[in-house]
Amino acid sequence: MQETIERLDRHLLLDWYRRNRARSAELFELIAPEEFYGRPIPLRHPFAFYEGHIPAFSFLTLNERGLNERPIDERLERLFERGIDPGSVDDAKRHERDDWPSRDEIATFARECDARVERALAHARIEDPSVPRLVRAQAAYTILEHEQMHHETLTYIVHRLDQAKKRRVAQTFEDRAVPARAMRTVPAGIATLGADPGDLAFGWDNEFGRHEVSVAAFDIAAYPVTNGDWLAFVEAGGDVPPFWIRHDGEWRLRGVFEELPLPRSWPVYVSHAQAEAYAAWAGMRLPTEAEYHRAAFGSVAGERPHPWGDEPPNRHHGNFGFRRFDPEPVDEHPGGASAWGVYDLIGNGWEWTATPFAPFPGFEPMASYPQYSADFFDGKHYVMKGASPVTAVEMIRRSFRNWFYRDYPYMYAKFRCIA
Ligand SMILES: [Fe+2]
Repeated sequence: MQETIERLDRHLLLDWYRRNRARSAELFELIAPEEFYGRPIPLRHPFAFYEGHIPAFSFLTLNERGLNERPIDERLERLFERGIDPGSVDDAKRHERDDWPSRDEIATFARECDARVERALAHARIEDPSVPRLVRAQAAYTILEHEQMHHETLTYIVHRLDQAKKRRVAQTFEDRAVPARAMRTVPAGIATLGADPGDLAFGWDNEFGRHEVSVAAFDIAAYPVTNGDWLAFVEAGGDVPPFWIRHDGEWRLRGVFEELPLPRSWPVYVSHAQAEAYAAWAGMRLPTEAEYHRAAFGSVAGERPHPWGDEPPNRHHGNFGFRRFDPEPVDEHPGGASAWGVYDLIGNGWEWTATPFAPFPGFEPMASYPQYSADFFDGKHYVMKGASPVTAVEMIRRSFRNWFYRDYPYMYAKFRCIA
């Protein structure tokens, strides 16, 4: 029996790794070759870094640190080990360098990392209860979800490239009337935040410490704030969202691959600071993480794994999983509404909460990536929940938490208000 489970897991993990690598390759192919060392977002490394970082991280985490294998190239492993999240453009200057390896050198190194990682996933003892990094195959899952997070990072960096510098992926776009503003009442109750290790095949360290929070009743917007809603705020002197462009007196949206007439019925993507400013202007506020949980997962009969219930996430529930790159109207997925009739809680953009990113009770840094969360418990990052169009389906789980600086403007993050 043990053997059967073991073989099945390997097959799944190896297949997942290959799918991830194929998606990374597709994303890199969107970038014009002369932009390989380009850095459309000054707060992030150039594309070249990510081409090396993703496989290097996988190799370091699984093979070298998990399985004690010998290095491939210590210089490149050090160079590509970690990304950056500086607090300012000035701060980012410390990380600038002009000696990135050639594209060929990076590709050769990446191929070697891939070969070693695939061999380990296929044959090595990747699950070992006596090695902290290998408990329940932690290192293997870490590298798989890590790469998927980078698919999202890469997409929003590609988003910032001029249209002439990237290949376009064809998509259809739909806009319609903005749904009438509606509030839903969520009664007082318990929100269960976090998970216990036994609840999940894998979770990041910040997800652990399952605990209950008692939440008072509140009224929450049935839909996230749309571009159409935000127009009134701009007219009242509010900030212009980072994805909007003014062209010949008209507002337009910067989509991933093209500029569009502003789609009024799509969620507006803004920074946490902008979301808070809007909520204050509207006489409301952002939900806390616990309130988001109540709105999303609560029901009269108790809490559920997803807003729509028990069913595994699929295309009827929301805009996630790389089905498309850009948003959809906020009322596109009635099948994904929560028990209280709150739409679009998972997908179509992460959702900002009012909660600073902090550890749950009993937090312990994870063995396979101890800096993953701990480096960001600084009171300056805020929790986001849900998913964006380019968030992997594997990361859609109740306990998953994302976080960013309050003024980071590039994320696919939407919000809604609470009265
Ligand atoms: Fe990374």
